[in-house]
Amino acid sequence: MQNTQNYIQNNKEKFLNELIDLLRIPSISADPAYATNVHDAAQSVADHLTSAGADNVTIYQTKGYPIVYGEKMIDPSLPTVLVYGHYDVQPADPLELWDSPAFEPVIKTTAIHPEGAIFARGACDDKGQMFMHVKAFEAMVKSGELTCNAKFMIEGEEEVGSVHLGTFIKEYKELLKADIILVSDTGMLANDTPSITTGLRGLSYVEVEVTGPNRDLHSGLYGGCVANPINILAKMIASLHDENNHITIPGFYDKVEELTRAERDEMAKAPFSHDAYCKALDINNVYGEASYSTMERGSIRPTLDVNGIWGGYTGEGAKTVIASKAYAKISMRLVPHQVPDEITELFKTHFESIAPEGTKVVVTPHHGGDPVVTPVDSIAYQAASKAYETTFGKPAIPVRSGGSIPIVALFEKVLGLKTVMMGFGLDSDAIHSPNEHYGLFNYYKGIETIPYFYKNFAEANRK
Ligand code: BES
Ligand code: MN
Ligand code: MN
Repeated sequence: MQNTQNYIQNNKEKFLNELIDLLRIPSISADPAYATNVHDAAQSVADHLTSAGADNVTIYQTKGYPIVYGEKMIDPSLPTVLVYGHYDVQPADPLELWDSPAFEPVIKTTAIHPEGAIFARGACDDKGQMFMHVKAFEAMVKSGELTCNAKFMIEGEEEVGSVHLGTFIKEYKELLKADIILVSDTGMLANDTPSITTGLRGLSYVEVEVTGPNRDLHSGLYGGCVANPINILAKMIASLHDENNHITIPGFYDKVEELTRAERDEMAKAPFSHDAYCKALDINNVYGEASYSTMERGSIRPTLDVNGIWGGYTGEGAKTVIASKAYAKISMRLVPHQVPDEITELFKTHFESIAPEGTKVVVTPHHGGDPVVTPVDSIAYQAASKAYETTFGKPAIPVRSGGSIPIVALFEKVLGLKTVMMGFGLDSDAIHSPNEHYGLFNYYKGIETIPYFYKNFAEANRK
């Protein structure tokens, strides 16, 4: 791997400048106004794959945004690594909260990133992390040290629920044949505490609409006499958690897997500072489900959160009005064995049942996704763990994450493939938030670590 590592060291500036150019493209998949940019990002990824040395680079059109594919099949007797990532990004708003424009990348140092970090939407999620794979691949190809066959599948709809990727992988099973899927779209504990993500939560996302009277009313003439949809919605939402912050939807926990004391003790070994956690978020305490630690609340326990709530008058000054309608968007993060469609159904039945007389409730399901846990005793996990040991000087800790990448469960169902999640982001990198950034340390460390995965994985498969 020496030539590969030398190539990386000699091309650090080029690797950084190329990422910066990719980050300039506002490939926001959620907003149709950016459609051209999303397509431009796909083209750019395809061009980068080609110049890195990939063959058969193809932009597969879908009914939504395209999927970029590329491969390098060097020897049918070698194992094949399929890299998945996404080139689309979250919307950048609220724009006024960015210290510098979201699509004009700048490098600044922070307390956590003394070597500097790239500030831009998508820097960490996921352009920066996806691009590490393209650059690691380039380094291996150009130095003649690619040890596995490699395939790339980079999509442009992850942030809107990977709408067309499911159909794509069903249709292209043969093309996507591989031994393992490799993803960098998660995080690690800290720059001196590498970790491998061994679980993701699933997701059930719903929108609710509460209707009271057929029109907005004078809050003096009608106040006290009719159900105010905003009051009612607030009450209904509040009732979804009890005094222990358990979710009150009947059946919600039925399939939740309770971890053993031993498993929970193992989890508790991962370093966690309550004070640093609070300080970083400017809160005087954490909040959550009774009898579980913060780490557990954010990974092995299911949750229900309102993501947005609106209705009535929210403009300047005061308007005395009872709104006809109130709305909320609610996400439920799910843990192994919970089934998104079932949870959505349980929510709908319960939410409709608690609507008081004088109101109408409509629950509309949005996208969902299955939770995943990945094995730690597999060849692939061991190959990854050894790779971290080489570049960080210590083994990675297995950690289950709270986030969701719904397609990972489908990879297993449709392609029969396990995924290794080598995430290099930090929770403090502000993904989906203003001032998203990605440490230069993390970017380069990722590029350095990935080739060792290929090497270890090839060696382990030979045995
Ligand atoms: N990369 C994230 C998911 C993630 C981040 C997992 C950090 C673990 C650690 C991904 O792009 C994402 O944002 N997923 C969405 C779900 C999707 C259906 C919109 C999420 O988790 O909210
Ligand atoms: Mn992502
Ligand atoms: Mn994301």
